[in-house]
Amino acid sequence: MDISNCKHLRFFGLHLNSLACKCVALIVIALVLRAVFLPSFSSFGGIGNNNLFAVNNGPSTLNQELRIEKTQFLEVPQIIWGLNNQKIAFARACLTARMLNRTLLMPSLSASLFYKEVDLLQPISFDKVFQFENFNSLCKGFVQLGRYSEVSNRSDVFELQKGSGRRWTVERDLDQLRQFRNNLYDGYEIIRIVGKNPFLWHDHWPVKDYARVFECLVLVEEISREADKIVSKIREIGSKEIRKVEPVQNVIDPVPYVAVHMRIEKDWMIHCKKLEQRSNISEICSSKEEIMERVGNIVGLKTPAVIYLAVADALLEDNSILIGWKERLLPFEKKKLGVVEIYRKHPYLIQSAIDYEVCLRSDVFVGNSFSTFSSLVVLDRTQKMIKMGARNLCGMEAKWPSYSYNLHGESKGPHPWMTNMSNLNLQAISYGSNHVSC
Ligand SMILES: *[C@@H]1O[C@H](CO)[C@@H](O)[C@H](O)[C@H]1NC(C)=O
Ligand SMILES: *[C@@H]1O[C@H](CO)[C@@H](O)[C@H](O)[C@H]1NC(C)=O
Ligand SMILES: *[C@@H]1O[C@H](CO)[C@@H](O)[C@H](O)[C@H]1NC(C)=O
Ligand SMILES: *[C@@H]1O[C@H](CO)[C@@H](O)[C@H](O)[C@H]1NC(C)=O
Repeated sequence: MDISNCKHLRFFGLHLNSLACKCVALIVIALVLRAVFLPSFSSFGGIGNNNLFAVNNGPSTLNQELRIEKTQFLEVPQIIWGLNNQKIAFARACLTARMLNRTLLMPSLSASLFYKEVDLLQPISFDKVFQFENFNSLCKGFVQLGRYSEVSNRSDVFELQKGSGRRWTVERDLDQLRQFRNNLYDGYEIIRIVGKNPFLWHDHWPVKDYARVFECLVLVEEISREADKIVSKIREIGSKEIRKVEPVQNVIDPVPYVAVHMRIEKDWMIHCKKLEQRSNISEICSSKEEIMERVGNIVGLKTPAVIYLAVADALLEDNSILIGWKERLLPFEKKKLGVVEIYRKHPYLIQSAIDYEVCLRSDVFVGNSFSTFSSLVVLDRTQKMIKMGARNLCGMEAKWPSYSYNLHGESKGPHPWMTNMSNLNLQAISYGSNHVSC
């Protein structure tokens, strides 16, 4: 029965049918109310609808329903330091929210890299770097992000102070989080964690869970277009150079490239020497010569090949990194590619995000197993292959092979590398390890 039919019947004063119409009208009102209260319809929540409640519903039932349906949020401090640290910190914040059964309020990232002067940290909204809607749709049922505009009462906050110090153990931290799952805190719309940056929180989650969050991080188009430009430049210039030295029929199109995350700058060398002493492991620091030799000996690598050197800016003035590569390996860095300007336009965080993307999409990736950047690239590549149902994850048989040049492999080459997704925490794979699972 449709509405016009209804009016018609009422016009003729048919008592029974008009009663039926009233029933239908009531059902329709009930459905509208339900729809308005459901969170996914929150965009309906304008003034008009509030008036609707006032007319049709008692205030007490309204409050009760709101209590039950109200989204609860978790708020975390601004996320700081380098891209990888920020990604890990963000994942930790998401997984904490998941544990507390709350929606994570979209945190601020930091565009700049000031370690100590926190007041100089340039906050940048998460959605200026990663796609917000896409994150929520990819991570649906796992973790969700919310916007501050979704919060109904910003003063309805409980502050959770993270413990610190040596006596604040992993177990105590976990106990504290478990306590906050308690219904006692359900009354608070927001739990705000104060104190330490999420990167420094304890690591309670398996690698798989981190991988699940990272998967949902898709760069905004503006940034991924910049990465597209770099990648096509690598292939274009690479192809031109290769044609100069090779008969045309030997050139594969598009030209494959090997990305080498070459960590040889001074800061890293000091850091890695210290690490070698402390951990009594000798295979952390690789010299320029060692990296060149190992990359030159990758078993099964088809040459000629383009080598993209992902290096720190300080090294762009050091021409020696382009010299000494094996024949048929054509090395390029940002300067030689003529893409320095593309990077310079952006703050530190975005530059790293572009570099990360270029390494991620490479045909072959070679990094240092003690670098967090390299480790996250390999994790991402491994996850993508697992998702595809790939069988071979190691060596040239893999769709997106990765290697670690600091560990020696076959025939004086680098060691094949994949992420062991069964690890029970991220520590096992991200803060430096020589377990590369291949
Ligand atoms: C988490 O929230 C959902 C929906 O709000 C609810 O169904 C579920 O029981 C909650 N889980 C816990 C452990 O509180
Ligand atoms: C917001 O929450 C605070 C703290 O719970 C409470 O005192 C205040 O009445 C709330 N305001 C509204 C408009 O509900
Ligand atoms: C370091 O490792 C070497 C061999 O791997 C061993 O002989 C030495 O005792 C170790 N030193 C320390 C301080 O653990
Ligand atoms: C992966 O990690 C799990 C858990 O730590 C371990 O049992 C397993 O041996 C590891 N596998 C490889 C190939 O390293």
